[in-house]
Formats: sequence, structure tokens, C-alpha cells
Amino acid sequence: MRQHISFYVGDTLHTLSNLPPEMTLLDWLRDQQNRAGTKEGCNEGDCGACTVLVGRLEQGALVWRAVNACIHMVWMLDGAQLLTVEDVRGADGQLHPVQQAMVDEHGSQCGFCTPGFVMSMVALSTRADLAELEGTLDGERIINEALAGNLCRCTGYAPIVRAMKKAAAYCAEHGEPISARTPELTARLRGLQDGKTVELRSPEGRVTLPASVDALASAYAQDPAAVLVAGGTDVGLWVTKRLRQLPHIIAVRTAQDLHKVHTRPDGALWIGAGVTYTEAMPHLVAHLPAAADTLRRIGSTQVRNAATVCGNIGNASPIGDGPPIFMAAGAQLHLRCGPEHRVVPLEAFFLEYGKQDIRPGEFIEGVLIPPLAQGSVCGVYKVSKRFDQDISAVLGAFVLLLAEDGTIEQARLAYGGMAGIPCRAKKAEAALVGQARTQATLLAAQAAIKEDFTPLSDMRASAWYRATVAANLLARLFDTGATGNPSNSQTLENWQEVAHG
Ligand SMILES: Cc1cc2nc3c(=O)[nH]c(=O)nc-3n(C[C@H](O)[C@H](O)[C@H](O)COP(=O)(O)OP(=O)(O)OC[C@H]3O[C@@H](n4cnc5c(N)ncnc54)[C@H](O)[C@@H]3O)c2cc1C
Ligand code: FES
Ligand code: FES
Repeated sequence: MRQHISFYVGDTLHTLSNLPPEMTLLDWLRDQQNRAGTKEGCNEGDCGACTVLVGRLEQGALVWRAVNACIHMVWMLDGAQLLTVEDVRGADGQLHPVQQAMVDEHGSQCGFCTPGFVMSMVALSTRADLAELEGTLDGERIINEALAGNLCRCTGYAPIVRAMKKAAAYCAEHGEPISARTPELTARLRGLQDGKTVELRSPEGRVTLPASVDALASAYAQDPAAVLVAGGTDVGLWVTKRLRQLPHIIAVRTAQDLHKVHTRPDGALWIGAGVTYTEAMPHLVAHLPAAADTLRRIGSTQVRNAATVCGNIGNASPIGDGPPIFMAAGAQLHLRCGPEHRVVPLEAFFLEYGKQDIRPGEFIEGVLIPPLAQGSVCGVYKVSKRFDQDISAVLGAFVLLLAEDGTIEQARLAYGGMAGIPCRAKKAEAALVGQARTQATLLAAQAAIKEDFTPLSDMRASAWYRATVAANLLARLFDTGATGNPSNSQTLENWQEVAHG
């Protein structure tokens, strides 16, 4: 057991033992370290003004991730290398290529957002495959995704995107200054990894950083009143917006055995509770191709770099994007309490608004998503006011299993935003099963959806809008639903013929 955390900020090693559990990285940087280059804008993960770079060893290799300092807690840095805008520079006292490109392309006016943009751009310029991406369509998409979590209200994005392209081209040819330090930074981070559980105590409370899932289970069983924090992208807002104090935090992501994400021999995808959306993304996209576009729209790069897939389930939000997708795919949740394990279908976990099937001291170990059966047709559609960085008004996730003759054998229709919990549209499913895929079937299922749900009106959408959109998304599935199983293109062709016929 260790009683302090250690991390580097720039080239300075910090060792801390006395820390209020919920202290945010942004407050610590600005108030205690005089690193005021990292700005406070929204203080809720939305604007990116506070973006910093966290370097960690992932499978032995140094990986940089941009995160929002305003909702990142200081203890999360144990064993890491932090870089703020004050640490960014080029070789021989020159500007970093990103900074130089921002100057050249006039990428800054009032400058408030600029440090945050620069950090997101530096994170992107450390990507090893930058040279291959340059000028490609994928490169364009990656730049837009990297900047979607940074808001600028005066310069406009065109000069900033131009600066990013220029910096990327420069770094692809001449190298990126931070990446040039990889061997040295990797070696010093290795020196910080001791695999120990950490217990931090201060007058304000304590933080437990369990090194393993067993240590986490034991700590939580001993104090079920403690708050579990994984990526903190939800819990961070309890602190910054509701000003909550958290006298005992138990970290989830420090348990190394919760970081597994892999496809099992039976084709099911396992995502451990420590796995972020960024880490899970390639696996999820391969497993559920129809969900790819929606998954990329969860939060922003900074949010997905911290947010875990299981935290998205654990928060039980009625408008979380992951749960309806996984529910439609038939996912199962693996829970653990002390030494006891149990497995529940994901849909049975959500009981009613604010109430889940979880006991004191019990936590999510991971989620298991079975492979889509051959003959499946899938559609996942997120409807929100903005394309990027917005919470869904309605999300529909659909998996239909088709018989050889195209009849619908099974239907799983899951929605977010339609009730107090993410849930299935059972009446609409019943209207589809056993039916041919005709306009009459669609109309019957759309009518049934109106019986399945009595949605609420709120600032995101009116009840009428939600009910109408939920029915229309089913029409979209009939029009554009894609096969979840590439070996089943014949079924897809049939599906499209009938849907358009
Ligand atoms: C700017 C911004 C944009 C966002 N956009 C989206 C979006 O587009 N779509 C979306 O769905 N969400 C969005 N979110 C919400 C959030 O990012 C996700 O819900 C995220 O997946 C939560 O994961 P986390 O690891 O950060 O959870 P945390 O904040 O660490 O925890 C969330 C809750 O789950 C509990 N918990 C965490 N891990 C476990 C576990 N293993 N077992 C039991 N309970 C656990 C915690 O105690 C807490 O109650 C956004 C958040 C922000 C700040
Ligand atoms: S201050 Fe806006 S994202 Fe942190
Ligand atoms: S330069 Fe003013 S907000 Fe971006």
C-alpha cells in the first residue's frame, strides 16, 4: 500500500499525499501551480478551454490523450506525465509546429480558446500514423473529430483547421517535438509504476486507488457509501456544478485487470469497467458497424478519452447513448459484490429513473456484447440538436433477425430519451415479429411505439417531437438499415428490395 501519488508536470515530479478527494486538475493547476495558461470556460467538459495532455504507458508504450482538466481529478494522474500549454514548445526555443501554424494561419483572435485548441492539436500531431492520414478523407474526419470538443466563438474554424493541416504536414516530414522525447519520457514513467494500491487521506476525506479488481471489490464492500469514479466525466460535474463534496472516492480505472477489451472465441465482445470509449472504439466499431457513426458522436475526443463504457451504463441516464445500443445487441452486465459475481441482462439492470438492480457495495466489472446473429439487420440513430458534442434527444438502436424468406423472426428495439430509463419498445417489437417487411408492418410497428412510450417534454425536445422521431427512426431502419453481419449481404439485398418496394 502506498500513501501518495506521483506524476510529472512538464519535467517536474510531484508527489502528493494530502489532497481533497474531489480536487479538479484545473483548480490545482491554476490555484496551486500558477499554470494559468489552462483556461476555465464552462467547467463542465463542453468547451475544451481547459484541455491538457496526459501521457500514460499503455501496454508498455507511451500514449498521449487530450482530456478536460475541469472534470479530471488530480489523483487520476498517478503514474502519468501531464503537459499543459506551458510545456509545449518546439526544438531550440522555437514555437511548436502547431503554435507556429496557428500564428501563420491567423488561428486566434481573442485567444481565450487558443491554449485548449493547441493542446488538442498537439495531441493529434503526436499520432504515429500522421503521414499516412495527410490529405485523406479519413484525415479530414480525424481533424474534425479532434477539434469537436473545442469551442471558438470568434476566430471561426476554417483557419484553425488549416493550421492543423499545416502542422500535421510539417510533423509528418520533420517529426513532432514531444514524440521525439518518447524514449526518455517512457523510461521515467516506468519508474513510477509499482502496481500498488494507493490510499490518500486528507482532512477532507480519502481516495482509494485499487491496483486490482479484488482490491476494488474489497474496498467497496467495506464502504458501500463511497463513490465509485471511473472517468469522472459525470461525477466531475457533481463537483463543479452541484458543488458536492465526496468524502470517500474509490477509483475504478486504477484496477489494471479491468482494462481488458477483447473478442472471445465465441465472438462476444468483453469490455471491462476500466475501458474508455476511445480504447473500446475500434472493437465496438468492428463488432457493431451500424453503431459506428453514433459512437463517434459520444461527447468529444476529450470526453471519450476519459469516459468509460461501463460508467455510461453505471450512471443510468435515460439519455446515455451506449445503453440502448448495447441493449439492442442483447448485452449482459457482469456485476460483482465482494467475492460474489452475478450476470444480468442489461435491460433488467435499469428498473426505473434513478433506480438500478445493484446492491450496496456491488459494481460493474464489465459488459459482454454477443455477436450479431447471421441474418441481422441493424440501425443506430442519434437525434440531437447539434451533430457533435451533444446529448441525444432520442436515440434508437434496432436489431432485427430475418428468416431466409425475409420474415422478421426476432426484433430488439431499444430507445434512449423516451422514458425514465433506456428501454425496449416491446409492443412495437411484437408488431414486427412474424411479419413480412411491408409498409403495413412498418405502420403497425410505428403505431405500437406510441403505445410503448409516454415521453416527457424538456429543453431538448417536446413529447410530441420525441414520439414522432421515435416512429420515424423505424422508417429509417426500413429504408437504410444495414446488415450487422457482412457474410449476410444476400439478406440485406432482400431487405432493401422489400423495404423500397
Ligand atoms: C461534455 C460532455 C459530453 C457528454 N456527451 C455524452 C454523449 O454524447 N453521450 C453519452 O451517452 N454521454 C455523454 N456524456 C456523459 C458521460 O461522458 C458518459 O456517461 C460516460 O460514459 C461516463 O463514464 P465515466 O467513466 O466518466 O463515468 P463516471 O463519471 O466515473 O461515473 C458515472 C456514474 O457511474 C458510476 N460508475 C462508474 N463506474 C462504475 C462501475 N464500474 N460500477 C458501478 N458504477 C460505476 C459512478 O459512481 C457514477 O455514478 C457527456 C459528458 C460530458 C461531460
Ligand atoms: S472549462 Fe470548458 S471543458 Fe473545461
Ligand atoms: S479566439 Fe476567441 S474564442 Fe476562439
